[in-house]
Amino acid sequence: MQERLQKIIARAGVTSRRKAEGLILAGCVTVNGRVVTQLGSKADPAGDKIVVDGRAIRPHGQRVYLLLNKPVGYISTVSDPEHRPTVMALLRGIRERVYPVGRLDYHSSGLLIMTNDGDLANYLMSRASLVPRTYQVKLAEQPAAGKLALLERGIALDGRRTAPARIRPLVRRDRPWYEVTLVEGRYHQVRRMFERIGCPVLKLKRVRIAFLTDQGLRPGEFRHLSPREVRRLKGHG
Ligand code: URA
Repeated sequence: MQERLQKIIARAGVTSRRKAEGLILAGCVTVNGRVVTQLGSKADPAGDKIVVDGRAIRPHGQRVYLLLNKPVGYISTVSDPEHRPTVMALLRGIRERVYPVGRLDYHSSGLLIMTNDGDLANYLMSRASLVPRTYQVKLAEQPAAGKLALLERGIALDGRRTAPARIRPLVRRDRPWYEVTLVEGRYHQVRRMFERIGCPVLKLKRVRIAFLTDQGLRPGEFRHLSPREVRRLKGHG
């Protein structure tokens, strides 16, 4: 059956559908030896030989869904030009080409979903999915009165207002801990929000993504998501 090329590439776990479109436009995709740069192009995953960046794709590659508890000191990309350790080094025994869904800073720790399912990755990263992510943060000092309410209502970051957030105190001391729940994941969002109110974040840990928690996962460990968890993440059950 003929299907759009970007859909076949995403389903094979090479990358997300949007990035697959970029690869097609950039001339990195061939079908039966011919370069295809037309975005609407279709192919038959069962019969055509589709090559992306010089590697033939396996159209029905096994889908893999992992939940990793990233330690501080790992970068959440597949490779790093500065040669810092990446989260890939933590995935012993996983042969599929999975990649992280979103980012956790080098200095942050906690939950990261890794998968080769481009459609799920796209969905989770889209603004429309509204998947809540919860962080525990240690602040350099107690925020001034009223400042947290500002963050909860939303502030302008990069010219766009942040979505309402939920913030509650966890440990009250000079360097207090708070729990922050966001439904979006913009670049360094938590750190930048607290910097904006004059309270730098000293530690940041993601402890929950939707209904998934770090229970039973020590830093550096990962587990496979169950089929039910994957269905729930996709919003079907
Ligand atoms: N927000 C940040 O600032 N850093 C992270 O790693 C995650 C969310």
